[in-house]
Amino acid sequence: MVRKTFCSIKVLFITTAALVVLFVAVLVLAFIGVPRLINSQLEKQVHLEKGTTQWDRFVEIPFALDFKIWLFNVTNPEEIVTGAKPVLKEIGPFYYTFTIKKNIISTNPSDDTVTYDRDMTFTYNQELSGSLKEDEELVFLNPVMLSISQMSSLIERMALNGCLDKIFPSQYNDIFIKTKVRTMFFDGYEFAVKNDDIGVACGIIRNKIIEKTAAVRTIDRIYKNGEVYSLKFAYFHYKESKTDGVYTVFRGLDDVSLLGQVFRWNDEPQLSFWGRAMSVNNETCNRVRGTDATIFQPFINKDSVVEIYNTDICR
Ligand SMILES: *[C@@H]1O[C@H](CO)[C@@H](O)[C@H](O)[C@H]1NC(C)=O
Ligand SMILES: *[C@@H]1O[C@H](CO)[C@@H](O)[C@H](O)[C@H]1NC(C)=O
Repeated sequence: MVRKTFCSIKVLFITTAALVVLFVAVLVLAFIGVPRLINSQLEKQVHLEKGTTQWDRFVEIPFALDFKIWLFNVTNPEEIVTGAKPVLKEIGPFYYTFTIKKNIISTNPSDDTVTYDRDMTFTYNQELSGSLKEDEELVFLNPVMLSISQMSSLIERMALNGCLDKIFPSQYNDIFIKTKVRTMFFDGYEFAVKNDDIGVACGIIRNKIIEKTAAVRTIDRIYKNGEVYSLKFAYFHYKESKTDGVYTVFRGLDDVSLLGQVFRWNDEPQLSFWGRAMSVNNETCNRVRGTDATIFQPFINKDSVVEIYNTDICR
């Protein structure tokens, strides 16, 4: 009887010990082994290597992204001109979906990067926009007139005032214009159209406008017979018609924490944009950093800092 009890205790003890060892082993596996295994598998899944699902998703994001526009309709344009406070009515969202497709230019194993540019396409989403139509007519501040007058000297502005009718179509020659959302943002409207009856003075003003807007990405030049026939403005047309530069980003094969980080943009690790007005080239602000927002490094938690590089604001 005593022996049996002793034996039972021994069995119990051994079983308990075995269970403890098993338990510890499970814990070690659960907290160290499995996460390591998962992490290493995850790293293999996320880095950018041709022929993988991740690569395909990187080249073409397999779902459409949201792009929503809220606008302020100017409801009292005539009164504003005579000194009244603007009364604005917020309208939106005008709901677009957009897709991003990357054109791979090269992969560069020596520095573990891939180089590409991007094509974007915007489509109006009528269902999600509800009753708002893309051909809704709203009253806007005339962006072309404002920016041209900002770029001009006082004398040029005075000269321009005498040429408004010759340079802008009648619908667009005022400080406030009424036009469709689609026109304002994607289709665009033409101005500074070639006109043989423009006269010498207004012809000079037209040439100056063509010259000054050369680098403005919202204004396109329309050519006919090898010369500028007209200019065309739209807020977002450039997003579809031009790429937003050449990106070189890390593939994450060597160091997965760098996955997607922009290494160079247009072949440069630095911009020259920030601080230019004060003729300092601020390295901190001009450093290209972050991802292009289509890919992020793995293992992000809520304390992680996630940076993206946006070409619209050069940072
Ligand atoms: C925008 O405001 C104008 C008045 O300036 C008005 O005629 C027009 O109907 C408004 N549009 C919408 C969609 O509210
Ligand atoms: C650049 O800008 C950053 C952020 O404003 C500032 O901390 C830094 O001192 C500046 N560096 C130079 C060289 O001006």
